[in-house]
Amino acid sequence: MSLELKIEAAAAALELVEEGMRLGIGTGSTADEFTKLLGAKVANGFKITGVPTSERTRELCESFSIPLATLEEMPELDLVVDGADEVDHQFQLIKGGGGALLREKIVANASEKMAVIADDSKLVDTLGVFPLPIEVNPFGLKATWNAIEKCISELGLEAPLALRGGGSPFVTDGGHYIIDASFGHISDASALSDSLLNIPGVVEHGLFLGYADVVFLAGEAGVRRL
Ligand code: 5RP
Repeated sequence: MSLELKIEAAAAALELVEEGMRLGIGTGSTADEFTKLLGAKVANGFKITGVPTSERTRELCESFSIPLATLEEMPELDLVVDGADEVDHQFQLIKGGGGALLREKIVANASEKMAVIADDSKLVDTLGVFPLPIEVNPFGLKATWNAIEKCISELGLEAPLALRGGGSPFVTDGGHYIIDASFGHISDASALSDSLLNIPGVVEHGLFLGYADVVFLAGEAGVRRL
C-alpha cells in the first residue's frame, strides 16, 4: 500500500472528526498517517481528546501534542479511527498485524462508531489469507497452543500456527504473546471467534465482528466510502 493511499484514506476519515470529540486513535502505518493529519489540525487549534490504542500510538500522539486521556479517564468514546489487515463485504475485519489487537478491540468496543482506513487491496471476499493474530497469555503457552490446534481441528479447519517473533517472542502492550494462525479461508468467522474465546489462555483474537461502521478504502480511482 503506497503512502499516498494511506494518507488519502486517513484524510477521508479525518472529515468525520468533529470538534470536542472523544476519539480513539488506532495503530499501524495507516493509522499513523491519520494521527499525523490530526496532529496538524490540533496544532491549528482544533480540539479533541484522544485515547490511543497502543503505547506506540501514544508516543506518536504525544510528539504532536495531541491531548490524550486514558480509557479509565474517558471510558466512552464517540469514534475510533483504525486500520485493518483485511475487511470483508460484511465489514468483518482481521486486525492485529501490528500486535495491538487487544487494546484496539477494547477501544473499538468503547466507541460509538468505528471508521476503518485501508487501501482497496485489503478488501476480500472471505477473511483468512492474512494470518489471524491470537493473543495468548505466556503462562502455559504449550497447553494453550495445543488447545488452539484442537479447536481448529474440531471446527474442521486447518491452520498452521506460528509464534510471532519465534525464539524471541513479540510481547504485546499487555505483556502477552501472539500466535498467528494461517487459515487461508475463514468461512464462519463467528463460530471461530466463539471457539477461540472459550480457550482459557486466549486473551483475544484479531477477528473484529460487528465493530466497523464505515470503511474508507483508498485506491487508484480515489477513496471509496463503504
Ligand atoms: C495493528 C493493526 C493495524 O491496524 C493493521 O495491522 C493494519 O496496519 P497497516 O495500516 O500498517 O497496514 O491492527 O494491530
